[in-house]
Amino acid sequence: MEKVILDMDPGIDDALALLLAISSPELAIQGVSTVAGNTVVEKTGINARRVLEYVGRGEVPVYYGSSSPMARPLSTAEHFHGSDGLGEAGIPMPRQPPIPGGVQFIAETVAKNPNDITIITTGPLTNVALAFTLYPRTLRLVKRLVVMGGAYHLTPYGRGNVTPFSEFNIYTDPEAANIVFNSSVPITCVGLDISTDPSVKIDRRRYEEIRGLRGKKAELASRIMKYQLERFGEVEVHDALAVAAALRPEIFQTVEMRVQVLTNNDASRGATIAVKPREGEKGNAKICTGVDGEKFFELLLSRLSDPG
Ligand code: RIB
Ligand code: CA
Repeated sequence: MEKVILDMDPGIDDALALLLAISSPELAIQGVSTVAGNTVVEKTGINARRVLEYVGRGEVPVYYGSSSPMARPLSTAEHFHGSDGLGEAGIPMPRQPPIPGGVQFIAETVAKNPNDITIITTGPLTNVALAFTLYPRTLRLVKRLVVMGGAYHLTPYGRGNVTPFSEFNIYTDPEAANIVFNSSVPITCVGLDISTDPSVKIDRRRYEEIRGLRGKKAELASRIMKYQLERFGEVEVHDALAVAAALRPEIFQTVEMRVQVLTNNDASRGATIAVKPREGEKGNAKICTGVDGEKFFELLLSRLSDPG
């Protein structure tokens, strides 16, 4: 079992990632820290609780993390996730609120489990960067990061979704991403290069397959995905792919690169520049350049359907 912290900004695809993670016995989830991104942290925190309680997993602790990027005003994405951040699907509000102190939770959990915690991030990297900055032993003791973020131009799908160069999670807090990519912590990146590949998207056919499954997880997934399916004709599952990268690395292809995050205030804001390391030089990230889309969907389907 891999001990993991999920750092998220639910968000429709974050919610799918959370459902996949809690349905995977390979992962020992220590808790969820939430961050401002797709919507404000008050909502991302509550949304993680909504998802967990809806499927009877209210015992998983959820923490509020950062309410804003490190050095920029917050820009959210409600147009893509709905005004409540969960597709306006009427999912009941939680009985239990999130707990304050998400950054401290990350630092304390890593300190208590030296070299044994994987942090899977599916939102802006603010919480992780603050944990590395305010509690420096965190970056020395964390085992690895799996980051949904970046657009590396390594496949035909590797262009940005905020600007042609920048992906939302990195664009929202480029200073935090810069700290994380320069931390020397082992990072596997799931970027738009594979997460916007048509082979991994949920189209109408795949949506109906999920909707046809029995159980609360599949019901919740189809209810929240409907928002994007109706407006955009498909559902992007960036974050669930990051969880799959932790669960099934064998269905992904990766390349080791040296990544630099641009923190300018112009069109290059949040760009992730990836170059091959020089001979004998180590890269700072393994970037996913391919995935078996069918195997990913089979994994998602099987985990959403099992009553566990
Ligand atoms: O660019 C896609 C990422 O931004 C996903 O994590 C999505 O949830 C949004 O946070
Ligand atoms: Ca997200």
